[in-house]
Amino acid sequence: MKTLITGGSGFIGTNVISKLLKTGNEIAVLDNFPPITGKNLIEFIQADIRNSLQLDKQIADNFDALIHLAAKSDARNMENFSTFKEINVDGTMNVLELARKNDIKKVIFTSSSHVYGNIPQKKFAESGPINPISYYGSSKFFGETICRAYSDFYGINCIILRLFTVYGPGGRTDMAVMRFIDSISQNKPIEVFGQGKIKKDFVYIDDISDGIIKSLNSKAKYEIINLGSGKATDLLSLIAMIENQLGKKARKSFLSMQKGDTAYSCADIKKAKKLLNWSPKVSIEDGIRKTIQWRKSN
Ligand SMILES: NC(=O)c1ccc[n+]([C@@H]2O[C@H](COP(=O)([O-])OP(=O)(O)OC[C@H]3O[C@@H](n4cnc5c(N)ncnc54)[C@H](O)[C@@H]3O)[C@@H](O)[C@H]2O)c1
Repeated sequence: MKTLITGGSGFIGTNVISKLLKTGNEIAVLDNFPPITGKNLIEFIQADIRNSLQLDKQIADNFDALIHLAAKSDARNMENFSTFKEINVDGTMNVLELARKNDIKKVIFTSSSHVYGNIPQKKFAESGPINPISYYGSSKFFGETICRAYSDFYGINCIILRLFTVYGPGGRTDMAVMRFIDSISQNKPIEVFGQGKIKKDFVYIDDISDGIIKSLNSKAKYEIINLGSGKATDLLSLIAMIENQLGKKARKSFLSMQKGDTAYSCADIKKAKKLLNWSPKVSIEDGIRKTIQWRKSN
C-alpha cells in the first residue's frame, strides 16, 4: 500500500510511520518541517498545505491512501482564528482536493475531542452533541464537514478519528504530560490549571497509531470514530503518578481554567471496538512509566 501522510514529521506521524514501515508499506511524507528519512520512505515533500499550487506541483505519485495529520493544534490559543482557518479548514480542503485530483480513494482525518467542547455527558459519543469552545475545536469541526462533503460528492472513503489527549515517547512539550515530567524532574514549578480539577482522557501514543493503522485498513465509506482510553484521569492523580515514578515532589502553582480549554473529556469507545476491533492496551500508569523512561534518555 502506498500512503501519503501530511504532518508526518510530528508526534503522531513519526510513530505511525515507524509502524507502517515495519509492515512493508510505502510512504511519502508531506510536511512544512525539515525532512525525516527511513527505509521504504519513498519521498519527503516539503510543502505547506495552505498552498494548493505547491501541492499540485509536488504531488505526482499514485497513492492508495492519505492520512491527514498536518494541523495547527492548540486549543488554548485564542489569539488568531485566521491561522486555524488557513491550516485546519482551508488546508484540509486543499488536501481533500489533492485526494480528489489524484484519485486517492481513502482519507483518514485526525479530528479532536475538542469538537465536543463542553457537554454534560459522562462519556462523549460520536452521535452525541458537540459544542466546541476553542478556535481549534471549531476548525477541526469544519474539517470534518469538508470530509463529509468529499465523501458524499466524490466517493472518497473518509474516516474521521476524534483523538483524545495523546501522550507518550516523542510527545509534544506543550502538552500537560511532557510539561509536568520536564518541570518536576528539573525541580521547576508546574502550572496546574483549573485548580487541579481538570479530568481528561489521556491515551497512549502506541494505541493511537494502532487505531490509525486499523482505520487505514477499514472498508468503511464514511465514519466518525473516537479514539481515547475511555477513562478520565484528573490532573492531580496524573501529577502524583509522575512524582512517584521520578521520586520527586512537584511544586504546584494552582491557576484557573485557560480560555479555550475544556475541564473534562472522556471517550465512548464502543464504536472503535465494533468497527475497527480496536481497544486501548496501555494503562495510564504503564504509559507514564514508559514516557518517563523515554524522556530520561532523550
Ligand atoms: N496530540 C494530541 O493529543 C492530539 C489530539 C487530538 C487530535 N490531534 C490531531 O492529530 C494530528 C497530529 O497531531 P500531533 O500531536 O502529531 O501534532 P504535531 O504538531 O506534533 O504534528 C503536526 C505536524 O503538522 C505539520 N504542519 C503544521 N502545519 C502545516 C502546514 N501548514 N503544512 C504542512 N505541514 C504542517 C507540522 O510541521 C507537524 O510536523 C493533528 O491534526 C492534531 O490536531 C492530536
